[in-house]
Amino acid sequence: MSQDAVKQMKQAVAKAAADRVQSGMVVGLGTGSTTAFVIEFLGDRLRNGELSNIRGVPTSFQASVLAKQYGIPLVTLDDVTKIDVAIDGADEVDPAKNLIKGGGAAHTREKIVDSLADQFLVVVDSSKLVERLGSTFPVPVEVLPLALSPVSRALTALGGKPELRMGVKKDGPVITDQGNFVLDVTFAEIADAAALEKTINNIPGVLENGLFVNVADVVLVGELVEGQPRV
Ligand code: 5RP
Repeated sequence: MSQDAVKQMKQAVAKAAADRVQSGMVVGLGTGSTTAFVIEFLGDRLRNGELSNIRGVPTSFQASVLAKQYGIPLVTLDDVTKIDVAIDGADEVDPAKNLIKGGGAAHTREKIVDSLADQFLVVVDSSKLVERLGSTFPVPVEVLPLALSPVSRALTALGGKPELRMGVKKDGPVITDQGNFVLDVTFAEIADAAALEKTINNIPGVLENGLFVNVADVVLVGELVEGQPRV
């Protein structure tokens, strides 16, 4: 599938999600290229007067920069007692709406914000749909730098193949917004995603992993039908 086709699907699903936001809502703002379009469309709706008085809770530095750029007022989890809706992307979605997230190394904050929301709306293009989690994407695990070696060994003992995520220039590891590393862990098969999510988080030194089991409420899928984007 061409990059342009994927972009069209992402824009279509982002617009559908942004259109669901109503005035006065507190909105969790996800991270990634699809949610970047959501933030842009929310900014458009604020500017043209369709929407007013929304506040965003960003899931990353990237989301907060974009929100400021598009005029969305930001609040923190200390400022609000509820999040009406969180809109976030995913790297894989299975038929039970379980996810792998963290392609943008933001899954720790994403899991906090997305799981607090009254409604967690996932926005993906159709290439993200899988029958089984882990079939196309490894499980990202955020790790305290000092615990990199023991955590890597523990993940290997669980049957995974951990790989330290490197930056695009390959001259150093990716550093998360919290100042940590990310291990991308490939498993031959994930038989029980719920159990694996808990087991990984129980390893001392692990902050959070990218398995999101029973967190998503609604999944919106952008697809191309006869060359036309639709949701
Ligand atoms: C960031 C994420 C993203 O939501 C996920 O990687 C999908 O990104 P994109 O919309 O760019 O495909 O989990 O940590």
